[in-house]
Amino acid sequence: MSRPQKVHLYEVGPRDGLQAEATIIPTEIKIKLIESLAETGLKTIESASFVSPKWVPQMADAHEVMSGLKKHEGVSYPVLTPNLKGYEAARDDSVSEIALFGAASESFSLKNINATRKESLIRFSHLTERAHNDGVKIRGYVSCVIACPYDGPTNPHHVLDMTKAFLDQGCYQISLGDTTGVGTPTDWERLFDVLLKNLKPADLAIHAHDTYGQALANILVALDRGLETIDASIGGLGGCPYAPGAAGNVATEDVLYMLNGMDIETGVDIAKLVDCAYYISDALQRPPISKVAKALGRSSTHS
Ligand code: HMG
Ligand code: MG
Repeated sequence: MSRPQKVHLYEVGPRDGLQAEATIIPTEIKIKLIESLAETGLKTIESASFVSPKWVPQMADAHEVMSGLKKHEGVSYPVLTPNLKGYEAARDDSVSEIALFGAASESFSLKNINATRKESLIRFSHLTERAHNDGVKIRGYVSCVIACPYDGPTNPHHVLDMTKAFLDQGCYQISLGDTTGVGTPTDWERLFDVLLKNLKPADLAIHAHDTYGQALANILVALDRGLETIDASIGGLGGCPYAPGAAGNVATEDVLYMLNGMDIETGVDIAKLVDCAYYISDALQRPPISKVAKALGRSSTHS
């Protein structure tokens, strides 16, 4: 399998990033961030979660964000929906792409969405049926594809089972979440050995948290296996409130720098992206954590 010439960067910062911050970011800053990200050339920006505000208070303003946003033509703004209640609220805000989120491990599924894997698939089937009828695009996340903070190492066949179940429900793509960022390239190679015997690279995306600094190396493995979608988070923000110890996702600007150097096309402007990293870091009152944002600096003229 040869590396792709073009890659789709799926931005998760406004959702995965801001859900994990101790400070609740004001709605207008979230909106400005999402609108600025759309100016960089990114075509997908995951923008909010229609989840229980008791479980994730950081996402309690999903309605205000999605109804206040000026949308760019050609940009998709998916949101997380855990159940029919979340789906209906998202539809009231004219959302046209949603993401389901399940897990390859039983304990994480229970901790994160209060349902076993089997129960979660039944719950999701109610909303996927509705989403199909409404013409809404559906993506799926499978968390803990390498290891679970509660159950330990994950059996790749459990990832395969959950991935297939989501595809059977009509998800256009499954994002493979190394939720705690523990995986190394060898772990990902073993996982892809199992998955790609049964599935096409286009069915899959990589969602690598960077807790141990392995994300870029792991993404290289995914590219070598032919994956064309990479999830990343502006400024390296992120984590999961129900995955203790999970650090941020790989920074979008770090991934973009690597892809630019490999002559892989993304359509994204690195200078504008770095400015977005500074914008949100300023709002959080700390310097950006990504290497590329630090190296290039704000208001850069580089490309
Ligand atoms: P539950 O407590 O079992 O839900 O939570 P319930 O149906 O029993 O309802 C309890 C209360 O929540 C009720 O309110 C409902 O109305 C309300 P009350 O009567 O007590 O006032 N409720 C809702 N409110 C707003 N929106 C909703 C909603 N649903 C119920 N959609 C539930 C089950 C799934 C709702 C809960 O567990 C939940 O919201 N979990 C979300 C957790 C989460 O967002 N985690 C982070 C995202 S996943 C992630 O980060 C991983 C990822 O990045 C990939 C990776 O890195 O691996 C995607
Ligand atoms: Mg995540």
